[in-house]
Amino acid sequence: MVEGAIEAMSVQLEKLGNPSSLHTQGREVRKELEQAREQLAKVIGCHASEIIFTGSGTEANNTALKGLFWKNRPLGRNVVVISAIEHHAILDPAHWLHDHDGAEVIVIGVDKHGVIDLGALKALIDNRGDEIAVISVMHSNNETGVIQPIAQIVAIANVASIPVHSDSVQSFCKVPLSFSELGLTAMTLSAHKIGGPLGIGILVLKRGIDIPAILHGGGQERDIRSGTLNAPSIVGFAVASGLPIPVKDIAQLREEFTAGVLKAIPDAFVNGGSASDQLPGIVNITFPGTESDTLLLLLDSKGISASTGSACTAGVQRPSHVLLAMGHNDKSARSSLRFSLGATTTHLEIAKVIDLLPAVINQARAANLR
Ligand SMILES: Cc1ncc(COP(=O)(O)O)c(C=O)c1O
Repeated sequence: MVEGAIEAMSVQLEKLGNPSSLHTQGREVRKELEQAREQLAKVIGCHASEIIFTGSGTEANNTALKGLFWKNRPLGRNVVVISAIEHHAILDPAHWLHDHDGAEVIVIGVDKHGVIDLGALKALIDNRGDEIAVISVMHSNNETGVIQPIAQIVAIANVASIPVHSDSVQSFCKVPLSFSELGLTAMTLSAHKIGGPLGIGILVLKRGIDIPAILHGGGQERDIRSGTLNAPSIVGFAVASGLPIPVKDIAQLREEFTAGVLKAIPDAFVNGGSASDQLPGIVNITFPGTESDTLLLLLDSKGISASTGSACTAGVQRPSHVLLAMGHNDKSARSSLRFSLGATTTHLEIAKVIDLLPAVINQARAANLR
C-alpha cells in the first residue's frame, strides 16, 4: 500500500465509532468519512452522493449488473449486454443472471486489437434496444490494457435509453476518467489497484437512479449497500486517489520494455492496440512455442513476477478468454504472458528481464517439445 494511505488508515484504525452512530465518536468518524467521499468524488468526476462504498470491485460489479437488470426487467427489458473481454466479476454475474434469473445474455466481440465491435453493438441496439436492461463494458482491460470507447458506447445506448455500466477498476488514476463526462449510469472502482487498501470498492451510481440491493440490512449507502461502513479503508482509498501515479514514466518504461523484448525475441508479439489507447502499466506478449505456465515458473525462479491471465479451475489451465476473443487459438493464447509495470518499476529491472528472457524462452520452448 502507498505510504500516505497506510498512515491515514492507521490513524483511523485507532478511532472507535460507527460512522452511522449519533454519538460524538460516531459523528467524528462520519465527518472524516464524508470528507473522504468528497475527495474521491472530485477525482472520479461525480457528485459525492453518487458514491456507494462496497467491499470490493467484484461487489460493485455484481450490484450494478444485477441491480440494473432487476430494475429494468419489469419494463420488458430482459437482455444483458456485455463485451467478450470482461473480467470474471462481470462475466460470472451475467451468466448467473442467465442461469438463475432467466436473463438473455448477449456478448459483443472485439477486434484483433482488443477493441469492442461498435458496429455489432449499434446493430443490436437498432434491432432490440427496447429489450436491453443494461450494457456493461469495461473501461480498460486487465489483461491487455486496451482502453474501450466508452463515450461512444454511451452515445449509442442513449438513443434507446439503455443504462451503461463500466468496470473502470484498471483505469482509475491511470488514464483520464470522469464519470460525468462519460455520461455513464454506473461505474466500478477498487482501491487496491491504485495502492489503496484491499477490500474496498466503489459503485458510482448516477443520482436519482435507484436499484434493488443485493445486501439488505441497516440501509446504509442509499439503501443499496447495507453494512457498517469501513471508515479506515475508505479514508485510505481517498488518500491513495490523491497521490499522483507517474503514468508518463511508467508508459515510457513499458515502451522500453516492449521494444527490448521484441528485439530479444523476434517472433514475439504484443497483444493489444496502439500505445496511445493503452493503460501505461500493462503489456501482454505472446511467445510462440511456449506454455505460459512454464514461462511463469521459470521467470518466477529468477525473481520476476508475470501472470497468465487465465483462470485455473480444478487444476486445469484454461486459455485466456480475452486473447481467444481477440482471435488467438488455444495454443497461442496459452503462449502469452501479461507483464505489469508500476511506480516502483526501474530501468534496471527491465534490463534484467530483457537480458534473462532469451534463455528463459529457449528453456520453455525445449520443455514444450518434450
Ligand atoms: C477489471 C477488473 N474488474 C474487477 C476486479 C475485481 O476487483 P476486486 O479485486 O476489488 O474485487 C479486478 C481485479 O483484479 C479487475 O482487474
